[in-house]
Amino acid sequence: MPQTEPRRPSGNDAFRGATRLAPSILSADFSRLREQIVGLERAGAKQLHLDVMDGHYVENLTFGPLVVDAIRRITRLPLDVHLQIENADRWIDVFCDAGADMIAVHPETLHHLDRTLHGIRDNGKKAGVALAPSTPIRAMQELLRNLDYVIVMSVHPGFAGQDFIPGSLARVERLRSMISRDALPVEIEIDGGINIGNVREAVTAGADVVVAGSAIFDADDPAERLRAMLEEMLEAETTGT
Ligand code: DX5
Ligand code: ZN
Repeated sequence: MPQTEPRRPSGNDAFRGATRLAPSILSADFSRLREQIVGLERAGAKQLHLDVMDGHYVENLTFGPLVVDAIRRITRLPLDVHLQIENADRWIDVFCDAGADMIAVHPETLHHLDRTLHGIRDNGKKAGVALAPSTPIRAMQELLRNLDYVIVMSVHPGFAGQDFIPGSLARVERLRSMISRDALPVEIEIDGGINIGNVREAVTAGADVVVAGSAIFDADDPAERLRAMLEEMLEAETTGT
């Protein structure tokens, strides 16, 4: 399968593997969730992105651990839980028990980010931070050694279907050079407004994981759209453009 090809090594990017596409189920048809997830897994999805929102940190209200637990029983794909909630500390163990493999939190919602990240890793899960467009990238420097991944948000947190914020690519590039400089095993995920027209640029800028919600689920054939996006990602990996 194309997406399992190794990413062409560049510079000291020793830790970069093949890029992955992670559908965000926020845009899925929840009455046909099993069918849609199974279809996307067969088409080459390598991770599922689950947006948990609480109506406080963001305006939108989505789902909680019960739904994560149900999805855990549908698929073996790694479940990437993006917490857009206040008081995330209270929920880390609960989401880990529900079947999350990776959990990302927003630094601006937490008093003791380091402790939260350790709490995720103590559960044997991957710990990430999600950076809203207004959060400075350089603030991550000190934290990168305690992290497994960083989500660079390319829309404002809260809703699917927003337009991509163009300055996000430069943010991915900046983060990529910080990670590469110290050869850290930290992956970059880009989240928001990604579609068939810009997914290539996202990979070229340095994203390891690309999240896409509406671009996949609003298509007439989501599996076909996912495959088309994977083709674009592979092109970017092999040509560097
Ligand atoms: C926004 C969420 C995103 C969103 C992406 O707060 O974190 O994951 O679901 O949706 P699209 O791909 O439609 O922008
Ligand atoms: Zn998200």
